[in-house]
Amino acid sequence: MADRYANFANSGLGRTVVKRLGLPDPPRLRRHRAGDPLVTGPVLLGATPGGRLAEPIRKLLETAGVEVTAEGVRVSALVFDATGIVDSTQLRALYDFFHPYARALETSGRVIVLGTPPEATASPKEAIAQRSLEGLTRSIGKEFGRGTTAQLVYVAPGGESGVESTLRFLLSGRSAYVSGQVIRIGAGPVSAPADWERPLDGKLALVTGAARGIGAAIARVLARDGAEVIALDVPAAGDALAGVANETRGRALQLDLTAESAAERLAGYLAAGPHAAVDIIVHNAGITRDKTIARMTEDRWDSVIGVNLTAPERVNDLLLERDLIPSGGRIVGVASIAGIAGNRGQTNYATSKAGVIGQVQAYAPLLAGRGITINAVAPGFIETAMTAKMPVGLREAGRRLNSMSQGGLPVDVAETIAWFASPGSAAVTGNVVRVCGQSLLGA
Ligand SMILES: NC(=O)c1ccc[n+]([C@@H]2O[C@H](COP(=O)([O-])OP(=O)(O)OC[C@H]3O[C@@H](n4cnc5c(N)ncnc54)[C@H](O)[C@@H]3O)[C@@H](O)[C@H]2O)c1
Repeated sequence: MADRYANFANSGLGRTVVKRLGLPDPPRLRRHRAGDPLVTGPVLLGATPGGRLAEPIRKLLETAGVEVTAEGVRVSALVFDATGIVDSTQLRALYDFFHPYARALETSGRVIVLGTPPEATASPKEAIAQRSLEGLTRSIGKEFGRGTTAQLVYVAPGGESGVESTLRFLLSGRSAYVSGQVIRIGAGPVSAPADWERPLDGKLALVTGAARGIGAAIARVLARDGAEVIALDVPAAGDALAGVANETRGRALQLDLTAESAAERLAGYLAAGPHAAVDIIVHNAGITRDKTIARMTEDRWDSVIGVNLTAPERVNDLLLERDLIPSGGRIVGVASIAGIAGNRGQTNYATSKAGVIGQVQAYAPLLAGRGITINAVAPGFIETAMTAKMPVGLREAGRRLNSMSQGGLPVDVAETIAWFASPGSAAVTGNVVRVCGQSLLGA
C-alpha cells in the first residue's frame, strides 16, 4: 500500500510544509540495486589505541575497493573500533571521534561501532565500558536522521575473520531499514564466499510462506544471490506460488505446514531431491488472528501458535534428526517486534514470536558443534498485505514511530535474511536482528 504521506513529504511543496510544521520527515532510503558499489563515498575509520579490529577492517575495505580515510568533509560511513576501550574514562574517545564528524555524514550514511562482547572481556571495568557502547549507537540512530543507520557489532576475540559479511551488509543499501541493533559475531575462522555478489551459488534454500509478501521477497533475494529456491506455501496459494517459483527459476512446494504429516512430507521431499539435503531454511510462514485474550477463541490461539511456532519446531527437529541440514547450514526464523514488546490484541501472535526468539537462543549453542547457524529477524512495520489490513490510525503510527519515519519494505527483511544465509556469516549465530527502522516499540 502506497505511503501517501511519505510521497507528499518528499515533494517540493511537502518538504516546505514538513519543515515549517516540524512534522515527521521520511527520507528516501538508499536501498541496494544490482551493480551498486558497497558505499557511496569514503569511509572514515577511527580507533582507540590497542583496538584489534581497525587494521583488519582497513585491509578488507581497501580490498573491496572502498576509500578509507582518517578525516573527511563528506563521508558515507563512520566506523569506529572501540575494542581498545578498557574502562569508562576511555569512553571519551567516542566523543572525540563522533563530535567533529557527525555533520560529515552523507544522507543514508552508516555508523558502525565495533566492540568486544562484555561477557568476553578481561575485567568488570572493561565489560562496563563495552556495554556502554550500546547507548551511544542507539542514540546516534535516533539523532542523526536522514536515513542514517547506526549499529553496534560485538566481535568475540578471535572472530576477526568473521567480520566481513556483516560489515558489507551494514555498510550497503541492503541494511536500509536496520538500525539501532546489537549484532554478535563469534570466534573462529570464516572463509569468504568466492563471489560476494553471488554468495549462495550452489546452495539449496527452502522458504516457507513464499507465495506473497515478505516470503516472496526472500525467495527473490536468495535466488538473486545464487541459491536454488524451493518456495513453499499452502495449496490455496498455488497460483501465486507457481508465479514466484517461475520468476526465481526455483521449485514450488504446496504444503500446509500445520498438517500432522507436514514435517514428514517435507523431509521425504528433500531426501528424495538431487541435494538430499537443504542448506538454508527460512521459516517465514506466519499468520495473525488478533483479539484481546478475553475475546479470543481457542482456535485463534491454537492456529497462531501452530503455524508460527510449532510448525517450524517440528520441521527443524525432523530435518536435524535425519541429518538433512548439513554443516554450513542456516536456519532463519521470522519473529516480530510484537514478540519483543508485546502488543494489545496479539497475545497469541506475540507468544508465538517470542517463542521464535526462544528457538534461536535455545538452539544456537546446540547447533554450533554441527556448523549450523540459527538466527532470526524481528520485523517492525513492513508494507505488506498484512499491514494494509490494519486500521488507519494504527497503520500511520506503525509507519511513523521509528527513526526512519516510514514503514520498511519486504526486501529489507529479505536482505537481512540473505546476510544470515551467506557462507561469510558462519560466525553469526544466536542473533535476533530487528528490521524495524529503530521502532520505538520495545526498544
Ligand atoms: N508484515 C509485517 O509488518 C510483519 C511484521 C512482523 C513480522 N512479520 C512476519 O513476517 C512473516 C511474513 O509476513 P507477511 O506480511 O508477508 O504475511 P502474508 O500473510 O502476506 O504471507 C504469509 C504467507 O504464509 C503462508 N502460510 C500461512 N499459513 C501457512 C501454513 N500453514 N503452511 C504454509 N504456508 C502458510 C500464507 O499462505 C502466506 O502466503 C510472518 O511470519 C509474519 O508474522 C510480518
